[in-house]
Amino acid sequence: MERTWWKEAVIYQVYVRSFMDSNGDGIGDIPGVISRLDYLKELGIDVIWLNPVYKSPNDDNGYDISDYRKIMDEFGTMADWEKLLEECHGRGIRLIMDLVVNHTSDEHPWFLESRKSKDNPYRDYYIWKPAGKGPKGEPNNWESIFSGSAWEWDEATGEYYLHLFSRKQPDLNWDNPKVHREIIDMMTWWLDKGIDGFRMDAVHLLKKPAGLPDSTNPPTHKEGYVGDEVLYAHNEGIHNIFREMNRSALSRYDVMTVAEMNRATPAMAGDYVSPRREELDMIFHFEICGLPRYCEEKKRISELNRIQQRWYDASWKSGWNSQYFNNHDQPRQVSAWGDDGKYRVQSAKLLATYLHTMPGSPYVYQGEEIGMTNFPFSSMKEINDVSLRNDWAKCSAAGESEEDFLSRQAKWTRENARTPMQWDDSPQAGFTTGTPWLKVNPNYREINVKSARSDPNSIFHYYRRLIALRKAHPVMIYGDYRLHSRKKGPVVVFTRTLEKEQLLVVLNFSSEKQVSLLPLGKGRGWKSILGNYADFSLRGRRLLRPWETYIMSRAVK
Ligand code: GLC
Ligand code: CA
Repeated sequence: MERTWWKEAVIYQVYVRSFMDSNGDGIGDIPGVISRLDYLKELGIDVIWLNPVYKSPNDDNGYDISDYRKIMDEFGTMADWEKLLEECHGRGIRLIMDLVVNHTSDEHPWFLESRKSKDNPYRDYYIWKPAGKGPKGEPNNWESIFSGSAWEWDEATGEYYLHLFSRKQPDLNWDNPKVHREIIDMMTWWLDKGIDGFRMDAVHLLKKPAGLPDSTNPPTHKEGYVGDEVLYAHNEGIHNIFREMNRSALSRYDVMTVAEMNRATPAMAGDYVSPRREELDMIFHFEICGLPRYCEEKKRISELNRIQQRWYDASWKSGWNSQYFNNHDQPRQVSAWGDDGKYRVQSAKLLATYLHTMPGSPYVYQGEEIGMTNFPFSSMKEINDVSLRNDWAKCSAAGESEEDFLSRQAKWTRENARTPMQWDDSPQAGFTTGTPWLKVNPNYREINVKSARSDPNSIFHYYRRLIALRKAHPVMIYGDYRLHSRKKGPVVVFTRTLEKEQLLVVLNFSSEKQVSLLPLGKGRGWKSILGNYADFSLRGRRLLRPWETYIMSRAVK
């Protein structure tokens, strides 16, 4: 397997709006990020993925872009951004940018032109259709991923435009070669500024199914729309787009790409990430992050093992994978996967151990490294997110009470990930001197960076050690993976093996003690290199305490 810097990198995701506010307006910004780079350096990460910082009316917090070449006013200026890049590079940290090209904002000049007239030169930059047989006369029955019809009527020209996300996010028309050229020019413009790659937003949706057929699935709710992402995604022609991006832009620079692709299956993996295809470096698939919500608890870990095995088989010899449990679109991992009460510290460390020792690149989402938890949402007034607000509008119209809606959704909403970073125990957790755009989690007095840094047993210092281990033990990156634990039960045991070194990783994904047989052979030669219980000893190795995890290493011939 070819060794590359991006396979070796630990990537840290910064959701700028919630990271650090430098000027007291309650909104995180680029100077705020710069002021915390030394902290990220101390953590030891290699790459920062910056959520969108482009000019945007913020219907979807920057995922609705009105100018790809300008910085969002609230976040700072292009000079601030250039300083950020320089300060990152000066510390040996690379920077990757979010590439949001399935859609633009409806305030993007292309769309403002496009909606003017049917013969406007920009008309075909977007997807316009006359009325049809959809539930309320739309061109088809598609439901937006953010609820409601995926079509918006536009009075001026008497047609509908397609928006797979909010109505302020019209989809670009990737059947139009001019769109390809515009986007590749824009990518090249950023690459020439010296960035180190892209995280590509929702790119599984770039190509729509030919003829935009109705979904034949049953309606998602009573209005008659059908949410059918399988139909919208991974359509013919999509590989040509990545190949073209690669050939005309990416391959001319030493950069990495990671593509966000819901509904991707292991069978598709090779086609997207195999190096000989010259498309992408890795993808974020969604088969794992939804397990806590959609899979019965007693089957969760066996499902996790099964999914990991399939992705490993599909992408290990020819390609690469990513590892994550949370990001800005998911609840906090310690709340979804771990125990955010009694065993918060142990379970946060266990989840980290898993993500950093499994094959693939670990992505750390801001605050994960101090074990930040979900927020106790009790009112829709506390929610800013457009997708949850749209969903609430739909459900309240259908008669659901706010209390019932929140009891279903509060634990799973992505808003949990977006509350401000907890820096210290001063008011607003040191995130801002003003009023934060989203409430700070009330547990900030206990859970914050300042206290984590001063406690040698904190989750933060555990992450530091894990990240450092990855640099010292190439087996953590390039070693072959083999699962040893039985398919059932919450204990996961696997080895990684590379040339002369073998690692054994043991994890108890539960709040109960577990007895487990370990494949230790005669047990000789193993030494423990990290564990989340201070008094760990080999003697006790078969009895695992709640959320106990450890890594052992030995030399092999
Ligand atoms: C991706 C982003 C998400 C955004 C959506 C629309 O899923 O991660 O935050 O809302 O695309 O751009
Ligand atoms: Ca600010």
